[in-house]
Amino acid sequence: MARSSNREHPVARRAEGRDRLPPLDTDRLVLEPLTTSAAWEMVEVLAAPTLYEHTGGDPPDLRTLRERYARQAERWSPDRSQRWLNWIVRERRSGRAVGFVQATLTVESGVAGVAWVIGAGFQRRGYATEAVEAMLGWLRADAGVARITAHIAAGNRSSQAVARRLGFVATTTVEHAETVWELP
Ligand SMILES: CC(C)(COP(=O)(O)OP(=O)(O)OC[C@H]1O[C@@H](n2cnc3c(N)ncnc32)[C@H](O)[C@@H]1OP(=O)(O)O)[C@@H](O)C(=O)NCCC(=O)NCCS
Repeated sequence: MARSSNREHPVARRAEGRDRLPPLDTDRLVLEPLTTSAAWEMVEVLAAPTLYEHTGGDPPDLRTLRERYARQAERWSPDRSQRWLNWIVRERRSGRAVGFVQATLTVESGVAGVAWVIGAGFQRRGYATEAVEAMLGWLRADAGVARITAHIAAGNRSSQAVARRLGFVATTTVEHAETVWELP
């Protein structure tokens, strides 16, 4: 009798189902699972040098961003130890891309490190808080996450405000000059 392939096995099917990244809705925003084709819009959103003041790095050019998104759209690190979960954040009304949110989930530990960026022209409207809240809800309910952390530089007041509003608490751990914040 022919053996069914792994892909057809019910357990494999369930695992594939778990890997699927859903779009997430909030009142004003749609979080769209990242694809490579988002790069051409996001290159504008990520263009302001001020976005990198506390994180380091530079505005990416289109080619760099396309390559980055092609890797991230795999949704797994090459060694399969981490799930890479990235969403483009869009305004529901205008359809414009305004930023992104991401979670890096280490499978063995169940720890998810989360991060957020909102384009310079779209800040201080509560978008980061609203988008990250939706991502956290999904991580807790659907992704089997045991612990959620964020790394935030000491002077990054806006990011600290976002973290605080979402219930994160600063720990005494500092990694690569960033404080580790944690959801209790
Ligand atoms: C951090 C960031 C995502 C915040 O985005 P945002 O959409 O403006 O955030 P929100 O509008 O949800 O603001 C949430 C809180 O931050 C406060 N805030 C926003 N900008 C601020 C600033 N420049 N200084 C102090 N507080 C600020 C808001 O007042 C609000 O707090 P409140 O509701 O208690 O008043 C955005 O500034 C950003 O992309 N920065 C560059 C990238 C970055 O540093 N990412 C974080 C890496 S850890």
